[in-house]
Amino acid sequence: KGIKVFAPATVANVSCGYDVLGFAVNTPGDEVVMHLNDSGEVSLDVIEGDEGRLPRDPAKNTVSAVVINYLNHLGIKQGVSIALYKKMPFGSGLGSSSASAVAGLVGINELMGKPLTQEQLLPFAMEGERLACGNAHADNVAPALLGGLVLIRSYNPLDVVKLPVPAGLACALVYPHVEIPTKEARQILRTHVPLQDAVTQWGNVAGLVAGFCTNNLDLISRSMQDVIIEPVRAMLIPCFSEMRQLAMEQKALGFGISGSGPSVFSLCSNLDVARNVTAALTAKLSEAGIDSTAYVSEI
Ligand code: HSE
Repeated sequence: KGIKVFAPATVANVSCGYDVLGFAVNTPGDEVVMHLNDSGEVSLDVIEGDEGRLPRDPAKNTVSAVVINYLNHLGIKQGVSIALYKKMPFGSGLGSSSASAVAGLVGINELMGKPLTQEQLLPFAMEGERLACGNAHADNVAPALLGGLVLIRSYNPLDVVKLPVPAGLACALVYPHVEIPTKEARQILRTHVPLQDAVTQWGNVAGLVAGFCTNNLDLISRSMQDVIIEPVRAMLIPCFSEMRQLAMEQKALGFGISGSGPSVFSLCSNLDVARNVTAALTAKLSEAGIDSTAYVSEI
């Protein structure tokens, strides 16, 4: 018995919503193929597309580690052979570890006859994130699992809310080919926030959510401002302020860091705007001698 699962890349934070907002895109993503066998062990038999850089040990790779946890939790002794086809860059801010974990979990849950709901798979996927970056944040795994735009209203207890998205809303993603490990991009953040910055930030998060819920693109645009995380992380990203200016000139609604970077994203009113934004940004990076990969997708 076997299964093939695709799980998408995700844009975490959505500018001002550090660790609480994220959305899925259609492309890129990871593909996982799993087969049950009678070995009693979870094995990671194929990894392609990672240039040999991801852990081969099934207990250390998120795709298999979450499957091991899932089976242990349910008390099932089941042999599974896993093949991971990485079709997206890692260390990129596109939720690569999360896509692998979610694909593995959805696959094993299907093969076992769906004993758990999608929501019940979420804590297992979050543990995969802990393995990958030291923190069990949910703003990549929740949208990868549930699709669309997701708010993590609370971590303890876990309270996840799917939000509506205005029809036709598109995302432009550009990945400059430099690597920023999420763990390091979290360690450089301030742990205390001035009250005035907090006020600005929660005004923007509330405005962004209200904009999504009421189809108000102007409000979305005004609210896409992160005064806490972005000023620290932007320093790690080549041509960051020039890219913002170009994206806004191309009529993006807003511009920000995707997850912990180095990828950047723009929300756009439609796919054509998103294509213009990616063209302008990749040209800028190339002028600066930096290769990049661009993706456009509806949300
Ligand atoms: N919310 C996480 C962070 C997402 O910004 O560190 C990482 O992809």
